[in-house]
Amino acid sequence: MSAKALGHLRKPVTATKVDRDPKKHTVTLVPGDTVGDELADAVVTVVAATGVSLGWDRQIGGQKAHARFGTALPDDLIESIRKHRVALKGHFATPLGISPAQESPSVKLRKLLDLYASVRPARNLRGLPSRYENVDLVVIRESTEDLYAGIEHEVVPGVVESLKVTTEAASTRIARFAFEYAARNGRRSVTVVHKANIMKMSDGLFLECCRRVAAEFPAIACRELIADNCIMQLVLDPGSCDVLVMGNMLGDIISDVCAGLTGGPGTVPGINIGPEVTVFEAIHGNAPHLMGRDLANPLTMLVPAVAMLRHIGEDAAASRIMTGIETVLAAREALTPDLGGTARTSEMVAAVVRAMGAPG
Ligand code: IPM
Ligand code: MG
Repeated sequence: MSAKALGHLRKPVTATKVDRDPKKHTVTLVPGDTVGDELADAVVTVVAATGVSLGWDRQIGGQKAHARFGTALPDDLIESIRKHRVALKGHFATPLGISPAQESPSVKLRKLLDLYASVRPARNLRGLPSRYENVDLVVIRESTEDLYAGIEHEVVPGVVESLKVTTEAASTRIARFAFEYAARNGRRSVTVVHKANIMKMSDGLFLECCRRVAAEFPAIACRELIADNCIMQLVLDPGSCDVLVMGNMLGDIISDVCAGLTGGPGTVPGINIGPEVTVFEAIHGNAPHLMGRDLANPLTMLVPAVAMLRHIGEDAAASRIMTGIETVLAAREALTPDLGGTARTSEMVAAVVRAMGAPG
């Protein structure tokens, strides 16, 4: 099993740890577009306040990099992630348009680094109002193929095709990842989400691979749900599912559904795992209207940062940040406008730092 340690918001979710001196971490920091620098600065401030010994290798990516170097993913950025093996990344805007320059940099990065498993744990943040309490779902999304292969062509004018690529190798790899994740983290079931009733060959293969892997894990219940029914079940009763595994496109959609159940996209970190590196990312956060105004919600990148700290073994710092966040959310005094308050990003960050208390 090549997957490395996973971070989580409140507790470690894996037995594996990064095999380096835990006192000397360097993490690649890639601010996102628009409000990315403000959010990255917020993370740097809060993490520094925990006292952990962590260096940031800040790299330019996305639109700024494209303007400066002609590519959204410069070699220096890729090399830095490969070297440090852990990165924290903001959200890149995805341009609409069909030239190769308009390819989504986030999707390209996942393919380049073989970040095949995107783990998106959806849990409530205490103090943040949401439709449901006690949500505890983990979406595991295959991230290298499916409709995200981006292989499209025009057959004749007015007719285009987009190829949905499903391989036995990638489906088996993500299925094994999901069942191992469930086994390692004491989860009760894995739900395979698919549309094999319609896409009989592609989703049929995915489902078949999951069934084969499931047979190796008799202690974990394997459930199968057709995607539309799954979404309805989740919305009616989030407790009806546990770990969910699916292809790329459904994973994109269903992870947002789950984030909606816990109060918004800022509650769910994106944990992208490959054989060599792990990239923690904000699953949303492109807010051009807030750029440079000190008004963006810092949780967008702080929540993935907490998962990252767990991954590198800095559990105490991660817990302190979570305490800070949840205290501020519950007090409702220093929240940014999207959270119903009137505070600036910097004021919310200062409140989180205050609420974290002194290092233990
Ligand atoms: C996500 C995002 C990305 C995706 C976009 C920004 C390319 O929605 O991480 O879920 O579709 O995967
Ligand atoms: Mg998405």
